[in-house]
Amino acid sequence: NNARESLYVVSLYAANYFANELWTGEHGRAIGLSYFRERGFREDIIKKFELGYSPDQWDALILSAKAAGHKEEYLERTGLSIRNDKGKVYDRFRGRVMFPIHNFTGRVIGFGGRTLKTDKNVPKYVNSPESDIYHKSNVLYGLFQAKKAIREFDNCYLVEGYADVLSVHQAGIENVVASSGTSLTVEQIRLIGRFTQNVTILYDGDAAGIKASLRGLDMILEEGLNVKVVNFPDGHDPDSYMHKVGAGAFKIYIENNRKDFILYKADILLKEAGTDPIKRAGIIRDIVESIAKIPDDIKASVFIRECSRLLQVEERMLLTELNKMKSARF
Ligand code: GTP
Ligand code: MN
Ligand code: MN
Ligand code: MN
Ligand code: MN
Repeated sequence: NNARESLYVVSLYAANYFANELWTGEHGRAIGLSYFRERGFREDIIKKFELGYSPDQWDALILSAKAAGHKEEYLERTGLSIRNDKGKVYDRFRGRVMFPIHNFTGRVIGFGGRTLKTDKNVPKYVNSPESDIYHKSNVLYGLFQAKKAIREFDNCYLVEGYADVLSVHQAGIENVVASSGTSLTVEQIRLIGRFTQNVTILYDGDAAGIKASLRGLDMILEEGLNVKVVNFPDGHDPDSYMHKVGAGAFKIYIENNRKDFILYKADILLKEAGTDPIKRAGIIRDIVESIAKIPDDIKASVFIRECSRLLQVEERMLLTELNKMKSARF
């Protein structure tokens, strides 16, 4: 399809333009490149992920793209430019460091742009809108750069943000992706499933991250994939924790704190419940509910056994509960 092809072409043009600004532009180098360096990103990673900088002007990209023969229509249809009610057209991304988003075959389909300001009124990230070539729910940031390692290690690390992907990848753990721009979707899980059946969630160690991990874990189980979770201390995300402890200690931390979903849920919920017996019964039910999502009955029975051991509850009772939940669904 010709129009779609034009959207790919203009997106690639923009990625090259932003990268060129980052490496050769006066402000790009002084502001954008220094920002990435201060965050500890190496040059090879900045290049591998084709990071860039959007000049702090209303129409820098528009002017450059038009001079190179690209039509305004396609800039608008990718969301790279915005037309206001008065018909004036301006760049969506201005004065931000740029993260191109690729589909898994490596074509640029959208962007995330991070502000360099600390002003709370400015959104930290601006993302490309949905377009004919960018369907957020079907895209994982970093998958193109990660897919070979995902197959090789038969596992996919799932993080929240762009910076987490870069830091983890830079540390040599290249099988890492983020569900940027949306909360995790079924389509994204199926996309991972084309490369591996094993997912390890590395979300932020804050309340929002823990909540999202519990939701994600159930969705992953429901799709029939295996899921483990690593929780980071003191509200750290993978990127900030990496910078705190270094790459070596980070890898050891992940190895030592990787929990299967039952243990992870039990730990979180038991902390909340304390010694209250009624609350503890609720936890058991909550965990069995996750197990009930597993489509493979044999796998589910293995987890029932583990749950029985961990929570000191008779297996027979858990199985009864499991069967009740499964039949309640129809
Ligand atoms: P850094 O400060 O650069 O390390 O960002 P972060 O990735 O740690 O940010 P955070 O944990 O707050 O958010 C995780 C992800 O959610 C980001 O990478 C973005 O994809 C997205 N996000 C964060 N803030 C915004 C925002 O203001 N608007 C939108 N649309 N997305 C955001
Ligand atoms: Mn479409
Ligand atoms: Mn967060
Ligand atoms: Mn974060
Ligand atoms: Mn962060």
